[in-house]
Amino acid sequence: MAGLTHPNLVVLTGAGLSAESGVPTFRGTYGLWEGHHVEEVASPQAFKAVPEMVHRFYNMRRASLKTVEPNAAHHALVRLEKAWPGSFLHVTQNVDDLNERAGAEKLLHMHGQLKKIRCLNCRNVMHWEEDLDISTVCPECATAGKLRPDIVWFGEVPYHIEEISQALETVDIFVCIGTSGVVYPAAGFARQAASKGAKRLIEINLEATEISSHFTDQRQGTAGEEVPRLVEELLKEVL
Ligand code: APR
Repeated sequence: MAGLTHPNLVVLTGAGLSAESGVPTFRGTYGLWEGHHVEEVASPQAFKAVPEMVHRFYNMRRASLKTVEPNAAHHALVRLEKAWPGSFLHVTQNVDDLNERAGAEKLLHMHGQLKKIRCLNCRNVMHWEEDLDISTVCPECATAGKLRPDIVWFGEVPYHIEEISQALETVDIFVCIGTSGVVYPAAGFARQAASKGAKRLIEINLEATEISSHFTDQRQGTAGEEVPRLVEELLKEVL
């Protein structure tokens, strides 16, 4: 960015980042929510009413992580993280582990993670790769039937909001990749970044979104093509 040698960068990613890896998005054709009410599987009310169904849904998604790999966009973001001279933060709404598997470290999962579970009895959060059901015993407190996916469901408060807000206070460049911009608070981050003085706001998506008007630079295309291109451009400007 002209005039700044160490600009602060915040990257927000959504389901479109992992789409080319074979992880379904939520909305749109073939989206996970196509034909379903999200509240049927992704809410505390659903978990109370039909826990077996909610477990089945997340077991299926957790197991499917074994069949996917990070794509060019995940790898490019890690290259950006490692080479960026200013502060860098990657905030993802994705619950898969593809960023970590590509090597990401400066990463916050604001909507939780498929490979984590939480005990409603002892409150411990644990790494978990297997299926979960209504009788699974907590490895920490030995109570049965109190484990849930560590996913932020509709109506729940996302993780790391304080840390994200702090990063947005001083952000110079805000990049938003593969999110439909309909789920708050993430959908409000572009506007927040602009109000805090970010001069450059870049969106990468297959199509225009609900929040496209907040960006100074909209790039329509696949994350797999557009993210590596953007990363090289940004690094050329600052290095
Ligand atoms: N490259 C770039 N963008 C893509 C690609 C791709 N290959 N494929 C799809 N997209 C875009 C779509 O155009 C869409 O705008 O990614 C976006 C995916 O939108 P959603 O499915 O709504 O996913 P996301 O925005 O991450 O959802 C936010 O909603 O249900 C909740 O908690 C869930 O974290 C999720 C949140």
